[in-house]
Amino acid sequence: MLDKIDRVIAAAPVIPVVTVRGAEDAVPLARALAAGGLPAVEVTLRTPGALAALEAIAKNVPEAIAGAGTVLSTGQAKAAADAGAAFLVSPGATDDLIAGIRAVDIPWLPGAATASEVMRLREAGFFRQKFFPAEQAGGAAMLKGWGAPLPDIVFCPTGGITAANAQDYLSLPNVGCVGGSWVAPAKLIAEKDWAAIEKLAKAAAALRR
Ligand code: 3PG
Repeated sequence: MLDKIDRVIAAAPVIPVVTVRGAEDAVPLARALAAGGLPAVEVTLRTPGALAALEAIAKNVPEAIAGAGTVLSTGQAKAAADAGAAFLVSPGATDDLIAGIRAVDIPWLPGAATASEVMRLREAGFFRQKFFPAEQAGGAAMLKGWGAPLPDIVFCPTGGITAANAQDYLSLPNVGCVGGSWVAPAKLIAEKDWAAIEKLAKAAAALRR
């Protein structure tokens, strides 16, 4: 499992977090992001069409690595797996998810925002974690502080990250990649401006880690 989530983290410096109404926008969006150099994409399970969107990307955009985000329950994890999700992301973690995710058997990036949450997930065997919400929970300085006592955890900070502060996170040794919606803003999705999204993806893909 670890090597599989590592492949997602290694794919690009940024995992775009996208919220789409359904398959119609999801496919050209995933193509634009991949063309810009960001193959991994987190589709949030926040719209009724999210699972259909995930399924459409998995089936029609082979160059993309489509994962499900906002996974709050084992039931959602199973539904995302059935839709073809390559990985799962949660804003936090619960006892039920920690137990249930093993049966789902898909790479999972669980969320943590405190040292105790990081340690609990570490005890459960999860050494790759989403730091969420990154900016609100302490930002790059917090992750720097965790680096010494928790050196074996690699983070994907997400929440409040933009083109302006992404590099601060990516320069840290315990950051594998960052996540964020800035590369696929709702306005550009609504306007179906895939060229503009590809341009944002290109700039994000050029960030160094
Ligand atoms: C989310 O789950 O909403 C992500 O963390 C995206 O956060 P952002 O919109 O602040 O990038």
